[in-house]
Amino acid sequence: MDLVIKNGTIITAIDTYIADIGIEDGKISVIGKDIIDPLSRVIDAKGKYIIPGALDAHTHLQMPFGGTVSSDNYEAGTRAAACGGVTTVFDFAIQQKGDGIIQTAQNRDKLCAPNACVDYAFHVAITDLTPKVLEEFQSAVDYGIPSFKVFMVYKKEGLMVDDAVLCKALKKSSETGAMISVHAENADLIDSRIEEYLSEGKTSAWYHYLSRPEFVEAEADKRAIHWAKSFNAPLYIVHLANKEGMDEVKKARSEGYEIYAETCPQYLNFNSDVYKREDGRNFVCSPPIKGQESQDALWEGIKTGDIATIATDHCPFQSYEKDWGKDDFTKIPNGCMGVENMYPYMLSEANKGRLSFNKVVELCSSNPAKIFGCAPAKGTIAPGSDADIVIYDPEKEVTITKENMHSNVDHTIWEGTKIKGYPVMTLSRGKIVFENGEFKGEPGWGKLLKRKGRKVR
Ligand code: URP
Ligand code: ZN
Ligand code: ZN
Repeated sequence: MDLVIKNGTIITAIDTYIADIGIEDGKISVIGKDIIDPLSRVIDAKGKYIIPGALDAHTHLQMPFGGTVSSDNYEAGTRAAACGGVTTVFDFAIQQKGDGIIQTAQNRDKLCAPNACVDYAFHVAITDLTPKVLEEFQSAVDYGIPSFKVFMVYKKEGLMVDDAVLCKALKKSSETGAMISVHAENADLIDSRIEEYLSEGKTSAWYHYLSRPEFVEAEADKRAIHWAKSFNAPLYIVHLANKEGMDEVKKARSEGYEIYAETCPQYLNFNSDVYKREDGRNFVCSPPIKGQESQDALWEGIKTGDIATIATDHCPFQSYEKDWGKDDFTKIPNGCMGVENMYPYMLSEANKGRLSFNKVVELCSSNPAKIFGCAPAKGTIAPGSDADIVIYDPEKEVTITKENMHSNVDHTIWEGTKIKGYPVMTLSRGKIVFENGEFKGEPGWGKLLKRKGRKVR
């Protein structure tokens, strides 16, 4: 064996127990009591928790957006991921008009492969659903790219698709084993509300929130769910942030539909009051962070199992770029950071007793692995699985500052947040990539995952 982790408390989505873990060739080779191998390196993890690395199913690295490019390139973003216990990131490869699905992912991989410090996969965002692209769904699934995204917003940015396209994609996904994700907000309503606020001279970040309030997101959630039901297709709603949408997800699930909701740590930790702050524009993301009632509904959805995953929507921009919108909220590049904060924050909430550690592992690791076709290699601690492991010290306390984070961004919305318990080591396929606050990995280590599609009904 290459490495033995001894005496730690192993926590998966379903189990908690003390055992040793043997690692060989990047995989967990054995789990048991008193594993002894005189030739292997030994880490004593007594008093520590051993949890599977998180899978962040939603990042935007080096993404051209909002008149600039998100500030974390593939190296910086996956470095920050490793330092936050994330061992797999799912990034979005945006289809250029005329390109195919596999081509889109391959083009993006040219940027990613030499730089990724942890494993990664692409969801392909479809912007141009030609008959040829529709026909390519099956080969993309067979190739190992079974997840596609459509935006119901961002008309001016050229990303939006209409309902007819969404429906075609849903129908085809149900026939091919693909999964469609949606960014759900009502684009027309947003545009008309923006126009109204700007004409009244209402230009602060607060009006970003008011131009896309709860009901603007809820309508699109309901519409997307309606179409998914109509075509008996699975649906994954990214960054769900509002109560009415949460209620609709709950209802559809109780009726037996395969609807998955993802929410993000920023929606769980902050409420819309952040947009009244002096630095409110740093919190500008879409959908915006909602009111307290929505935040409470999301936590309730976690409790009831109607939130399937937590992911970050990591899409940082520098302060000077956020400042473009000082006097006009529509000029603020949309997006916030989170890839290094998600797992520590959720685990800290578990450490404070709000939910169980097993539930955090389920939301941040095992569920995204299952939903997006990379279990059991990812998302658990079991013989045969990849040795993507976080060693977590429940006693370590960290206050987040931009100085102790590892992204390429000059601020963090998490500044000053106190975290109870923290990862002290991250292993990516058995290699130490983070240890005691320091990044120890290397660009180019991360591998592209080929994933399985869903069973066709
Ligand atoms: O504000 C956000 N979320 N920016 C990234 C693009 C998206 O909508 O996910
Ligand atoms: Zn989005
Ligand atoms: Zn996003």
